[in-house]
Amino acid sequence: MKFFLDTANLTEIKEAVALGVVAGVTTNPSLIAREKRNIHAVIKEIAGLVTGPVSAEVIATTYEEMLPEARELAGLADNVIIKVPVTADGLKTASALAAEGIKTNVTLVFSPNQALLAARAGAAYVSPFVGRLDDISQDGIELVKTIADIFAIHGVETEIIAASIRHPLHVTQAALAGATIATVPYKVLLALLKHPLTDAGIKQFLEDWRKANM
Ligand code: E4P
Repeated sequence: MKFFLDTANLTEIKEAVALGVVAGVTTNPSLIAREKRNIHAVIKEIAGLVTGPVSAEVIATTYEEMLPEARELAGLADNVIIKVPVTADGLKTASALAAEGIKTNVTLVFSPNQALLAARAGAAYVSPFVGRLDDISQDGIELVKTIADIFAIHGVETEIIAASIRHPLHVTQAALAGATIATVPYKVLLALLKHPLTDAGIKQFLEDWRKANM
């Protein structure tokens, strides 16, 4: 499983990229809004910081408006891919974009059937939202596993991005469930590194070193 960073914050992206683990970035309108900047400027800058795919989401809700908006976003940089919601208009847009060679990430996926439809419409990626399902007492990881099983049975090559990741356990579970990618907030990425025994081990090594070199 690879890691994408789920943020539109340039500082977080720079820090995470320096760790050498970031294979791409996902954004959404809420994350872009937090930056209080023009979406095109932000996406262009992010695309310059990472070599992998950068998901930029359309705001439009109809096919007629989504398609030109998507083309404009895709034109910002070679590694920009387009996020569309899993609606009829979204699938129509994903299908049209696939025919033009523009990759899509179909988002807001909450059921296996939505994921399969998105894949068949030509989506390069589908994003099941793990945390938001957990929030309503449904099993988000089970959804990822079911999608992965269905894709494996039918030889579907669309990649599964485990999204709406809230904590490190989600990451481990998503990897075991068959997600090809987990998109994680920066604070979750840092939390993955932490273990009290690592901290205690470093402290002990340094104390022993100092004692022996007094
Ligand atoms: C990813 O593509 C989504 O934008 C994101 O993971 C949503 O996460 P949230 O449910 O924490 O807002």
